[in-house]
Amino acid sequence: MTAEKSPDAFGIYVHWPFCLSKCPYCDFNSHVRHATIDEDRFARAFAREIETTAARAPDRRVTSIFLGGGTPSLMRPQTVGSILDAIGKHWRVAPDVEVTLEANPTSVEATRFGGYRSAGVNRVSLGVQALDDASLKALGRLHSAREALDAVAIARNNFERYSFDLIYARPDQTPDMWAGELKLAITEAAEHLSLYQLTIEPETPFAALHAAGRLKTPDEATARALYDVTQEVCDAHGLRAYEISNHARAGAECRHNLVYWRGEGYAGIGPGAHGRLDIDGTRHAIATEKRPETWLMRVEATGHGVITDDELNSEERADEFLLMGLRLAEGIDPARYAALSGRVLDPKRIALLREEGAITVDPDGRLRVTQAGFPVLDAVVADLAA
Ligand SMILES: C[S@@+](CC[C@H](N)C(=O)[O-])C[C@H]1O[C@@H](n2cnc3c(N)ncnc32)[C@H](O)[C@@H]1O
Ligand code: SF4
Repeated sequence: MTAEKSPDAFGIYVHWPFCLSKCPYCDFNSHVRHATIDEDRFARAFAREIETTAARAPDRRVTSIFLGGGTPSLMRPQTVGSILDAIGKHWRVAPDVEVTLEANPTSVEATRFGGYRSAGVNRVSLGVQALDDASLKALGRLHSAREALDAVAIARNNFERYSFDLIYARPDQTPDMWAGELKLAITEAAEHLSLYQLTIEPETPFAALHAAGRLKTPDEATARALYDVTQEVCDAHGLRAYEISNHARAGAECRHNLVYWRGEGYAGIGPGAHGRLDIDGTRHAIATEKRPETWLMRVEATGHGVITDDELNSEERADEFLLMGLRLAEGIDPARYAALSGRVLDPKRIALLREEGAITVDPDGRLRVTQAGFPVLDAVVADLAA
């Protein structure tokens, strides 16, 4: 059973946009700077944007905060503390708020974990990516497998809740190799693992190598076998997939990510952050300036870095609900789709997808994508939304 749905879940995403180096597969909003970053100036800008955003959406109770990146574990603990203080000053915060910080597993960063805990972080998510050194090198990572496992141990000593990420479907990875790596990961992961299939993102160095035939990703059948192994090994060890790439013990799901997938509201703070705010009954899709220094100047001049603020119409809102909700094992309630869009999902399409084994329908009507349907999720969503 997935974590209880909170009736008034509201999340805050805070983006720290800097990394020590750029990994060749990554297209997140992350930047490398050789000059020292003025953290105090950024901290003041974060506080300012938090104040402005809270003024637009004041009556919320914050149930989760996620400091993502980039590499938030490059921030000093006092910078993290000042961001959390600003959130507490401008919003009501639930006593059991989940506060996650994304960390890279290098030894330097792990030394800050105690400081983050004192600042109010109560969960870390570590980007381990692989558990063998050759793969880590190929992924352009700056840490070894040993260093990553040491960081996991430090996370375990500091936080009751932690998770780590692995990337699979890497070049030359076989299902047997992956099963072994995953079993080792599970012995180290207490309650939660994020397992992402490597995607070749446009305009990354990996995309260029891939196009030149110098980086070979597994063919479709191998990718499918790797996906199936992921589900089998995790299921056998009690780490069920509650979302297409996220596995947890019952009750240990990341509450912040559930906010996104369940279509709840959240604020996005920092360069290139996205938010979804319900203002006067209308959902706003909000995005901020991506370039860190431009964002900083905008916030200093105007109090916020927002460059896009779109009011979603009922169709767009319903499509987003479908796209996000069907990623979850708990699926979606078609009645909510109908309430949002003003039209019911086509029963003929539902029947066909069911026959094909891509979805199931619960006795109460809830739709869920099956293990066979998840690898073709985009097609399933497009079919239902058509
Ligand atoms: C915001 S990113 C990075 C967090 C942190 N900076 C790190 O690298 O450890 C979150 C996760 O997305 C995953 N990721 C990033 N790019 C990916 C790609 N091209 N394919 C699959 N997973 C990817 C990685 O597992 C990564 O840990
Ligand atoms: S994967 Fe993480 S460390 Fe690497 S560039 Fe992306 S955000 Fe930075």
